[in-house]
Amino acid sequence: MNIAMGADHGGFTLKEELKTWLAGNGHRLFDAGTDSLESVDYPDFVGDVVENVLSGTADRGILICGSGIGMSITANRYHGIRAALCLDPEMARLSREHNDANVLVLAGRKTDVETAKEIVDIWLTTDFEGGRHVPRLRKIELLKPPSNAPLPK
Ligand code: RB5
Repeated sequence: MNIAMGADHGGFTLKEELKTWLAGNGHRLFDAGTDSLESVDYPDFVGDVVENVLSGTADRGILICGSGIGMSITANRYHGIRAALCLDPEMARLSREHNDANVLVLAGRKTDVETAKEIVDIWLTTDFEGGRHVPRLRKIELLKPPSNAPLPK
């Protein structure tokens, strides 16, 4: 698969570990950064990853920050992105079967490397179930922007 990855300083170490492991398993990686443990702002590393997913350049995206929460909040602002923060393999499986998640979010400060590999492995290999979940996803896509959003020019 083509996988776009991004992380802040809280996810940098886990991103590097996963990159090596994923490349060793034959995946092609686009790395949107960050490139060190220096403190950065997590929203700055979301855009490149989600744009790659939305355009189809990447099959999936993986985002990592310390808790996974900031990356989740940011990625889910993009229409068409279904980003799922997964802390265990069961959440990873459900996020694919029920939610057709196209971005996996990991918590670099809560999830060890071996657990993260299990999560990623299941997440990349589990198919969307379809069926009763399709109209639910459609309802998300049909949501309007918030009523306090600025009007388009
Ligand atoms: C960075 O200290 C931390 O706030 C960030 O990695 C993430 O956990 C935010 O949600």
